[in-house]
Amino acid sequence: MAYETILVETKGKVGLVTLNRPQALNALNGQLIAEINTALDGFERDPAIGCIVLTGSEKAFAAGADIKEMQDRTYPETYLDDKFADWDRIGQRRKPIVAAVAGFALGGGCELAMMCDFIIAADNAKFGQPEINLGVIPGAGGTQRLTRAVGKSKAMDLCLTGRMMDAAEAERAGLVARIVPLADLMTEVMKAADAIAAKSLPSALMVKETVNRAFEVTLAEGVRFERRLFSSLFATHDQKEGMAAFAEKRKPAFKNS
Ligand code: CAA
Repeated sequence: MAYETILVETKGKVGLVTLNRPQALNALNGQLIAEINTALDGFERDPAIGCIVLTGSEKAFAAGADIKEMQDRTYPETYLDDKFADWDRIGQRRKPIVAAVAGFALGGGCELAMMCDFIIAADNAKFGQPEINLGVIPGAGGTQRLTRAVGKSKAMDLCLTGRMMDAAEAERAGLVARIVPLADLMTEVMKAADAIAAKSLPSALMVKETVNRAFEVTLAEGVRFERRLFSSLFATHDQKEGMAAFAEKRKPAFKNS
């Protein structure tokens, strides 16, 4: 498939998607979201891929949904098209996705980063939900995911004032997993992604599914769900191999089975 708004590469067991609309600071138009989904469909289907990385440029991960594409839309068009359903699919993927964020991650850009499983940020990253400055509100999950990530007070602060927070504040608030110097961003993210891709894929998928459950169910239900999946892994080759390798002081050879 010939992509026009993203670059798609495979690096070992890692699938890399780079947003590529530099002239618009990677503003997320319908084509770009559709292309991300096509790339993710391919990586999800490919048994050789164990982790996916989503990144932008040094100046912008993404400066939001494409305002120029949206500005003339009517209420019925917006309601009936339900364009954000395409965005939701990005957050429903099974394989782990790491967001490598440098520069602006604003509005839909921040929401896209939050749909990934965790964020590694460059020290120049800036996060925000400035939709209120445009007379709207976040529309791709920002009010919900940001609140779960940083708590009510800071989510209200960011969504109501529309201000940006820098990488240090985002890390303190728990939005990003870690900050690295801009020059090291892709090296560090690829190290993390390679490490994830080297695990047993069933375990990695179950970690993702179980951690995400914490946002949907009560503690008791979540722990029950975790226990069921934990037990199920004892039906796999990789559990036997992982524990034998530990006892024998060697590296495990996982088979994803
Ligand atoms: N949509 C469309 N085009 C955008 C864009 C966006 N979200 N963000 C930037 N661009 C375009 C600019 O229009 C400009 O294009 P031209 O050269 O053709 O004029 C180009 O990208 C470069 O941008 P700037 O000249 O503005 O760059 P800057 O460095 O001066 O400022 C910025 C950077 C502060 C990020 C500024 O571009 C900005 O404020 N962007 C909009 C941020 C925003 O409001 N995002 C929320 C969008 S709504 C949304 O996302 C809804 C949702 O919940 C899904």
